[in-house]
Order: sequence, then C-alpha cells, then structure tokens
Amino acid sequence: MSYNNYNILVTGGAGFIGSNFIRYLFEKVNFDGIIVNFDLLTYAGNLKNLEDISEKYSGKNYFFEHGDICDKKRVGEIFDKYDINMVVHFAAESHVDRSILGPEEFVRTNVQGTFTLLEAARTYWLNNNGKSDKAKLTFNIHNSSLTKRFHHISTDEVYGSLGDMGYFYETTPYDPRSPYSASKAASDHLVRAYYHTYNLPVTISNCSNNYGPYHFPEKLIPLMILNMLDEKPLPVYGDGKNIRDWLYVEDHCSAVWKILTEGEVGETYNIGGENEWENIKLVNRLCEIVANKMGKDKDYYKKLITFVKDRPGHDRRYAINCDKIKNKLGWKQSVDFEKGLEKTVDWYLNNKEWVETVKSGEYKKWVEMNYDKR
Ligand code: NAD
Ligand code: TYD
Repeated sequence: MSYNNYNILVTGGAGFIGSNFIRYLFEKVNFDGIIVNFDLLTYAGNLKNLEDISEKYSGKNYFFEHGDICDKKRVGEIFDKYDINMVVHFAAESHVDRSILGPEEFVRTNVQGTFTLLEAARTYWLNNNGKSDKAKLTFNIHNSSLTKRFHHISTDEVYGSLGDMGYFYETTPYDPRSPYSASKAASDHLVRAYYHTYNLPVTISNCSNNYGPYHFPEKLIPLMILNMLDEKPLPVYGDGKNIRDWLYVEDHCSAVWKILTEGEVGETYNIGGENEWENIKLVNRLCEIVANKMGKDKDYYKKLITFVKDRPGHDRRYAINCDKIKNKLGWKQSVDFEKGLEKTVDWYLNNKEWVETVKSGEYKKWVEMNYDKR
C-alpha cells in the first residue's frame, strides 16, 4: 500500500507520543508520503527523540518545522508550503501537575492552539481543495477527490473520575476536573463543532495513560524508574490507590493510524489498555523489575517509596471501554503490560545520554522549584 499522496502535519511530533507516532509510521507502516513535524520545542519537546528518523528521512519524507500552533500566520504558511491534507494533532501541554501550578499555558496551547489549527485547515482546504459551494463554507467531504482528515488526539481524562465500577464509553458525558482535562475537553468540543458546522472531516480519539520510550520524566512511570536509579524517594500521591489504565505507546500509535486511514469522519474512538493498576501496586512492581535488572534484592527499591500530599482534585479511577475501535476498525493492543514495562525499563537503562539531556536544564530547575519541596 502506498501513501504517497498523504501530506501529514503532525503537531507536537517532538514530544513523547508524537515522536513515537512518527517512528511508527516510518518503521512499521513503511510510510512513503510526507510528514511535517511542527513543534514549538517546549520543555517537553526534544529533537533527540527523532534523531535516527531525521538522519534517514529528512528532506525526503520528513520535515521539521519549528513553530507555535497558536501562531496563525506560521500555521497557514505550513499548510501552504507542504499542501497539507491531513493533520494529526498531538501538540499540547500535557502534565496535570503543571496545569494545577499554571493553568494559563494550558488554555493557550490546548484551546487556542487547537482553534488556530482548525481554522487553518478550514481555510486552506476550502480555498484550495474544497470543491463545494464556497458560499456555504462547508466541505463536500464525500465527493472530495483527495482524502482530508483532521485527527485530534485527546485523553480519557475529559470524562472525569470513576468510582470502583464502570467504564468510560464514547457516549460518557464530559466531566473534566483538572485545568489540563478541562482544556482538552474544550478542544474536543471545538473539533466536534467544526465537524457539525463546517463539515470539516474530523475524527477524535480519547486514550488512556501511555507509557514507553521517550516518556518525559515528570510522568509517573519514568519518574519512578529514574528516581530508583538515583536512589531518590519515590513520591506516591495520597493513599496510592488511584487507578490508571495503562497502554504501551506503540499501541496508541497503531490505533491512531487505524483511525486516520479507516475511521469514519465525525466519529470519536476510545483507546485503552484494558489494563487497570493501582498506582502503589504499579510502583511496587516497577521496583521489582528495576531491582532485577540492577542485580539487587527484589525489595531493594521499595524502601524509597514515600507517600506524599495528594494532588488537588486527583481523579480516583480511569478505565476505558474500547470495544468500538476493536469491533469497527479491528484494532487491538499488542503489548502485554509486563513485557511493556520490561522494554521501558531497558530503554531508560540503555539511553542514559537522552535521560541526562532531558533531566538537565529547564526541567531540573522546575523540579527544584516545585517537586523537591514536597
Ligand atoms: P508531551 O508533553 O510529551 O509532548 C507535547 C509536545 O507538544 C512537545 O513536543 C511540545 O514541544 C509540543 N508543544 C507544546 N506546545 C506547543 C505549541 N504551542 N506549538 C507547537 N508545539 C507545542 O505530550 P504527550 O504525552 O506526547 O501527549 C501528546 C498528546 O496526547 C496530547 O495532546 C495529550 O493530551 C494526549 N494524550 C496523552 C496521554 C499520555 O498518557 N501521555 C494520554 C492520552 C492523550
Ligand atoms: P501521571 O503520570 O502524571 O498521569 P495522569 O495524571 O495524566 O494520569 O500520573 C499517573 C498517576 O500517578 C496519577 O494517579 C498521579 C500519580 N502520581 C504519583 O503518585 N506520583 C507522582 O510523582 C506522579 C507524577 C504521579
């Protein structure tokens, strides 16, 4: 299968999931179209995440463009320069703790940024390839000669918090509770509004917690692994009984690709690991895996576990029902959690240079100012 008529704008492609997605396309799908990675390179964006891909494909199938998704002019130029016909929108401020300490950037990037991209897609596709009646300002998607898609990446956190029972479905009403999830919910609403109002050919996915290579060390799994290696405390919030549903990042990437190529316009798809873990149980298991790799006693790192003050508004449990994408698009998870954790620990042990680069500089200052005070 050739994808050489796909000119995909990947926003946030230098971040954790975006960089894994770009690598997935080149290495697993044999993608032969064009990928434009548009990224502001905030503290979370790192071109080192894609050094190998850049060496192989830069200037042929892969292009990096530095820029802000809130910058209307710059975003418009990118659509024009590469004749973009697909958008996969990962760029966001993504960390709940940061959203509690400073919500403004979340509203700007996640809401204003998504709006700017939607407007660019609407304007560019309408003026250049939108062959429908311009006066109606809508897309005649079904008659369009070339597929166009705007795929928006979102989170299960928009659905709020679950008790002991039940799952999030695509039909679950939104009930976001952190500035992060509220800003993602707002962006999802805008994307849906552009479908209903302008027929913009959108799809949305809401995914559970990802883990795997290139995960920024402020998030639970990499933070714990790296703190163990430094013999630093392992901060577990509250009673440690909050539950998350974990999915290996490459499985998220395969789901997004399925939706982009086979998903139905206007639809939302939940993506999840069907893999619920209490934080404290997960941290204990990670301690054992790292101890085994480091040749230590099984319980060696557990003494570092430290219960700290809970996160304000900490959602108790997330659990995704992903029957829709499984039944309609034939997607399924492929990485078993135990193997995925092993692979992840190995990756952090084998990529010390990446770890050192990421942990120094801006992030180091942020940790000293915020986390080390706990
Ligand atoms: P990340 O924080 O690792 O990466 C975000 C990327 O966006 C970075 O490269 C950053 O430089 C870039 N960026 C930020 N602001 C920008 C701006 N104004 N303009 C251009 N680029 C900008 O995030 P991630 O964990 O890879 O998450 C990617 C997406 O997936 C987000 O939309 C997030 O909400 C969603 N998501 C994440 C998870 C998860 O577990 N990490 C789960 C579900 C959904
Ligand atoms: P995180 O990786 O921040 O993802 P999210 O908040 O988007 O789910 O956190 C995952 C879980 O781990 C969440 O319940 C908060 C908890 N947590 C800790 O207990 N300690 C920590 O140091 C961090 C970063 C998270």
